Amino acid sequence: MDRRDFIKKTALAAAGTAIAAPVSAMLSRAEETGLLETQTEQNPTTKTNATMKVLMINGSPRPDGNTFCCLQEIEKQLQKYGIATEIVQIGRQPVRMCINCGGCHQNGGKGCVFDDDLCHEIIQKMASSDALIVGTPVYYGQPNGGVLSLMQRMFYSAGRLVQNKPAAALAVCRRGGATATLQTMNMMFEMMNMPVVTSQYWNIAYGAGKGEVKLDTEGMQTMRTLGNNMAWLLQKIHSDGDAAPKRDERPQFMNFIR
Ligand SMILES: Cc1cc2nc3c(=O)[nH]c(=O)nc-3n(C[C@H](O)[C@H](O)[C@H](O)COP(=O)(O)O)c2cc1C
Repeated sequence: MDRRDFIKKTALAAAGTAIAAPVSAMLSRAEETGLLETQTEQNPTTKTNATMKVLMINGSPRPDGNTFCCLQEIEKQLQKYGIATEIVQIGRQPVRMCINCGGCHQNGGKGCVFDDDLCHEIIQKMASSDALIVGTPVYYGQPNGGVLSLMQRMFYSAGRLVQNKPAAALAVCRRGGATATLQTMNMMFEMMNMPVVTSQYWNIAYGAGKGEVKLDTEGMQTMRTLGNNMAWLLQKIHSDGDAAPKRDERPQFMNFIR
């Protein structure tokens, strides 16, 4: 039975055949999370620090700006524990937005059908990474457009690759809007079964000109603590060969349409 058939069958069994209309809504909800086929995916192996990797995305168009400084600070902590890291710069490359074509759910798990930007490369890197950290500058109180488009396409088309992997967002701003920015990014992690890694304060640092963020000593310490916490959680998760919670239920999807 393929995925669509499964959802249809489950929906009809749950709602009764008289309520056929919500079935298509349930389909789209399942696809929204990219989670359906992931529920049986478990990682049975034990990992050591030396075999773990954290993928870090710098969402700033300034490759050596403040967001990068924060990621570097976290990276140094992770490397102290022997955990490998990779920072991918979105830079100034255009990133397409999701156009809800549904192609990613019909191509055998190959991910987003657009292959002319960074999204594919990042999805592939995510497949071999154990955790994800996304940093963004605050633009009008939100992550910048490239970060949002990238995360939406990545999670929608390849949710199974991020599921159960710890994640953290960080935001850099001149003055305000960082908490709303974090909220936006964390909401994506929170519906992908990703444990969200925190710090001694919200994962925020302040600076405007390139490198200015290093003067925010509390912000820099917050980043180091985040790196420590990420290393600690990764060690715990991979210490007993049971890197994902057992689930005995398939996810249920219900839309609320009158
Ligand atoms: C289009 C745009 C919008 C911005 N909006 C905000 C904002 O809402 N709040 C804020 O504090 N800073 C804002 N900033 C400033 C940046 O967040 C800040 O300079 C940040 O340090 C840039 O990080 P980066 O060096 O990694 O690119 C904005 C900058 C740009 C270019």
